[in-house]
Amino acid sequence: MRTIKVNLGDRSYPIHVGGGLLPCMGEFLQQVGCREKIAIVTNPTVAPLYLKPVEEALTASGFKVTSALVPDGEEHKSLSSLSAIYDRLIADRFERGCSILALGGGVVGDLAGFAAATFLRGVPYIQVPTTLLAQVDSSVGGKTGINHQEGKNLIGAFYQPRLVVIDLDALRTLPRREFMSGLAEVIKYGVIDDPKLFALLEQKLERLIALDGELLEEVIATSCAIKAKVVEKDEREEDYRSILNFGHTVGHALEAVTHYGRFLHGEAVGIGMVQAASISGNQGLCDERSLKRIRQLIAAAGLPVEIPSDVGRLDIVQRMEVDKKSSGGRIKFVLCEGIGKTRFHWFSPEEIIAQLAT
Ligand SMILES: NC(=O)c1ccc[n+]([C@@H]2O[C@H](COP(=O)([O-])OP(=O)(O)OC[C@H]3O[C@@H](n4cnc5c(N)ncnc54)[C@H](O)[C@@H]3O)[C@@H](O)[C@H]2O)c1
Ligand SMILES: [Zn+2]
Repeated sequence: MRTIKVNLGDRSYPIHVGGGLLPCMGEFLQQVGCREKIAIVTNPTVAPLYLKPVEEALTASGFKVTSALVPDGEEHKSLSSLSAIYDRLIADRFERGCSILALGGGVVGDLAGFAAATFLRGVPYIQVPTTLLAQVDSSVGGKTGINHQEGKNLIGAFYQPRLVVIDLDALRTLPRREFMSGLAEVIKYGVIDDPKLFALLEQKLERLIALDGELLEEVIATSCAIKAKVVEKDEREEDYRSILNFGHTVGHALEAVTHYGRFLHGEAVGIGMVQAASISGNQGLCDERSLKRIRQLIAAAGLPVEIPSDVGRLDIVQRMEVDKKSSGGRIKFVLCEGIGKTRFHWFSPEEIIAQLAT
């Protein structure tokens, strides 16, 4: 097991990464000062796989455990699921000293985190992410929230967990397509911050996809350490934290244009990263060889690299968020300077349309 620390003063917390960690949950929770009752938030897909071992571990350490199941799916990261969680907490007479534990992917994590941020003006919460995306991205950094029918993540709070426990064994039941989608975020960390991680992925991708335990531990711990470092510098995304949006300007727009039904998040980000790298090349920031390596690694991870021919460039650009801090309706892009370094650049919509590669 490796432990990474997120250093945020009195909101600091550890991230444990390793195989077979669920049976140790009781001890981990005691170490971070959790007491009394724990409410586990999960869903009907994850519960039959992992709820029992977590419940047993907590009960064995003397915790009183209750669980709240929310329906599976992004559309249930909603006010009605949140309300159902509050109902359960109130029915179980939850008080300030009790904690919430999110067991599942990013949907459960964001929802349970927001419930924790708001219930009784804040109770502690623990992230136990079970998808690769949640393990390397959504469980770390304290962004919590729910969707509104007018848009994703419109309601939320910055609220850090007290602990993150990443059990690598959970990835064994994750559908392959979901795993590959999570890989997009791992590749992103290599491009924005870590040429060594990028090279490791190039060399050992097959072993990683075959879920080699040691390699998974190294790659996931490295990814979390990079995210932690970025969050430590800019917790509330005043500016620097948005380097994590590399590939996401095009990626998010592509997801929206295709009504969130065609691409998994990481798939859209795969295409977005190739576009961002290509635009970086146009700007003289990214050399040909790095560009080729980025495209090749994304393709080798089974992710798409091209904007589908039936999706209009204008539609994509119209869905991009205009940067409120820049004047003249410009769009903020994270560009890469080769592999391992980034810089921000603001483009007009016309400049982007002209540069989107076909
Ligand atoms: N808070 C953040 O910083 C942040 C960052 C990135 C993404 N997100 C959010 O994360 C969400 C996406 O998360 P996700 O990709 O994990 O999706 P998800 O939570 O929908 O999980 C994907 C699917 O896998 C299932 N599943 C989870 N663990 C499993 C396992 N071990 N075995 C088998 N099936 C399993 C889930 O039930 C679901 O059907 C989005 O709502 C997004 O907005 C948040
Ligand atoms: Zn992402």
